[in-house]
Amino acid sequence: MTTTDNLPYLLFIHGFPLDRSMWQPQLDGLADVAHVIAPDLPGFGGVPATEPTTTMDAMADACAAALDEAGARTAVICGLSMGGYVALAFWRRHRERVGGLVLANTRAGADDAAGRERRSALAERVRREGVEFLAAAPPPLFSAHAPFELYEWARKTIAAQPPEGVAAGSLGMGARPNATDLLASIDVPTLVITGSDDTLIPPDATREMADSILVSDFRVIEGAGHLSNLEAPAAFNELLRRHLHRCGAVSIRRSQ
Ligand code: MLT
Repeated sequence: MTTTDNLPYLLFIHGFPLDRSMWQPQLDGLADVAHVIAPDLPGFGGVPATEPTTTMDAMADACAAALDEAGARTAVICGLSMGGYVALAFWRRHRERVGGLVLANTRAGADDAAGRERRSALAERVRREGVEFLAAAPPPLFSAHAPFELYEWARKTIAAQPPEGVAAGSLGMGARPNATDLLASIDVPTLVITGSDDTLIPPDATREMADSILVSDFRVIEGAGHLSNLEAPAAFNELLRRHLHRCGAVSIRRSQ
């Protein structure tokens, strides 16, 4: 996981319907302790969607390709929300490359039938009308007391996403398998983060996931909403710094 300069690789996986820019406070704030990589997932940022449905597996494979491109064999993998679904798919498909996990504001379960229906309806509407309606009324990404600039950032970032990519990502989330049974297989140090004011994926759903992971550290950032890394960057980064230490210790033990 470490390079000749002894810094580990840290790969960030963004949420929906956003792009790598959501990780700016981590790219800026953690570069002294890790080689930080934050790819745009297929269908988001500048990366086109190649299929009508972008599965979480396809996104996980794109993350593995980003590690290849950076010359990283292994990394600590950090995913938030949809990024967490992708991080779990990454664990299922590429676990030999995972030195540690961070699962933030996410859950392990699949959508129910009504949830899948909502994802399809959203995909259809985005294909028909574009992303403007979503940018104008995004899901609850922040707490009620988040600064206006964050709402502005979200509006602009969502408006910049290609409709085909957003539609394909929505269908991909709807098609994701239930990862609950996978949790017991996770044997790398895992940090699970949520925000007390996350109404999109409530803290209880995230706690339930943490409870099923053997070596997990569950943390609630008080006052933060769904995008806890943006709303409470100092607290989020501090948790990651400590976690990198734990992951480093584990890889030393494993290599002996
Ligand atoms: C996200 O924030 O990535 C998504 O809203 C998660 C979801 O819709 O399940």
